Amino acid sequence: MSIVEVKIELSKLGQAHLVSQLEKLQGSEYQDLESDILHLDLNLISELLAQVESNSSLNNSGEDLKSDSIRDEVAPHPFNSQAEQSSQSHAKWSELGQEALSEGKVGALLVAGGQGSRLGFDGPKGAYRFDLDSGASLFQLHAQRILNLGQRLGKELPWAIMTSPQNHDETIEHFEQHDYFGLSSDQIVFFQQGVLPAISQDGKIILASASRIQTAPDGNGGCFKAFHQSEVFHQWQKLGIEHLYIFSVDNCLVRPLDPRFIGFYLDNKKSSASTVVKKAYPAERVGIFALKNQLPTVIEYSELNDEQINATNSQGDLLYDGGNMAIHLIDMKILQEAATAPLAYHQAHKKISFWNGSELVHPSEPNAIKFEQFMFDIFPRCQSMALLEVERTEHFAPIKNAEGNDSPQSAKFLLLNLHKKWLAKALNINESNLDGQYEISPLLSYQGENLPSTLDEVKTTPLIFRS
Ligand code: UD1
Repeated sequence: MSIVEVKIELSKLGQAHLVSQLEKLQGSEYQDLESDILHLDLNLISELLAQVESNSSLNNSGEDLKSDSIRDEVAPHPFNSQAEQSSQSHAKWSELGQEALSEGKVGALLVAGGQGSRLGFDGPKGAYRFDLDSGASLFQLHAQRILNLGQRLGKELPWAIMTSPQNHDETIEHFEQHDYFGLSSDQIVFFQQGVLPAISQDGKIILASASRIQTAPDGNGGCFKAFHQSEVFHQWQKLGIEHLYIFSVDNCLVRPLDPRFIGFYLDNKKSSASTVVKKAYPAERVGIFALKNQLPTVIEYSELNDEQINATNSQGDLLYDGGNMAIHLIDMKILQEAATAPLAYHQAHKKISFWNGSELVHPSEPNAIKFEQFMFDIFPRCQSMALLEVERTEHFAPIKNAEGNDSPQSAKFLLLNLHKKWLAKALNINESNLDGQYEISPLLSYQGENLPSTLDEVKTTPLIFRS
């Protein structure tokens, strides 16, 4: 479409303010805004605007948006509980998983488009350090776990990292500065997720300056389209990679490419699987696994209604207790479809800076809508999935808030507690008899194995940090 045709379409979509702004500009400013405008996907914008309008009319009629899901048939998704798992099944799954990794059938995909802004950190969240004695960033922990596992298997394990335009360069810099944490530079590939324009509450595309449209990353579900469009997808297909192990950047206890979970997924022969933790308390901000009209799904914490949050079963236990840890396995074949038929867009009301005609304003209250795809919206397309409950204290310590639950302090506490538990087991003593705090480098141990059996050795092992 030419710029003239695009201007006409924009006016039809109620976006004439962009056209008049463009007409005020000259030179490079004109070119910048023209380029932003020409890059807009007008069909998608039209759909998103219609979505905003229908939601605001729902709001105006006083209906609770969250009650929408009540019209669907919703039930908890059953999961393979810890009580059902035996050491034999664990051993079998680990072996199956190691085999698949050694054969090069599984690649890791880290979604790391998010910033550390909620933590007061102006950079990629993965580069955030949370006061460990080793000084490790989240990226370092993930990288060195992948390195350790690969060394044990004698295989360079492939790793793709999704960044966003706001943190792409800084993320690559972080890895370069640290020499890829010991991994080989061609074992890691970076690709960028897409962005979408932010829209004001009254349905107008917002500007970031006189000559730029304000955009925001399109959510972690943008990974499928972005990955599919990137060269990585084709490289990985050629390499014979069949499954993607997806994980989030903020969980400091995540075990990337965990053989046991991979084996569980393969054993169940489904096209997707996730790990699950039981909710710690009803209002915990985790999505929950459910069957919606008999199809597997996650209902995000922000979209759960009070009834669903607090519902209990006949034993008085939480009904929807299968918490989403954002650790998923999917068959690469499913990805093809997700890339061509987009996942739903969820709206989030956020504080988004906007240009008011003379300056950039940073609002103190939510003023605009950003649109996000959620990666778990792929699950209904998988028809059925397998869920594995894991021990929270060994697998889940996300860093999301500056303080309190899910903060740098709580994550550090949980990581040190786990490492102390591992050491006490290796030393064959009670945890209470072990003084001090211990941090174990992932280069030494992936999941508590390979640890010294005497205190003297603990003191002299450089990869154990004692405080
Ligand atoms: C996510 C899950 C939630 C789960 C919780 C567990 C989604 C949508 N929600 O919530 O169900 O219970 O983790 O901790 O998956 N990211 C991008 N690009 C984006 C936005 C996010 O790469 O545009 C990445 C972040 O860097 C992070 C991950 O996605 O690694 C999850 O972040 P976020 O979208 O903030 O979801 P949570 O609220 O943490």
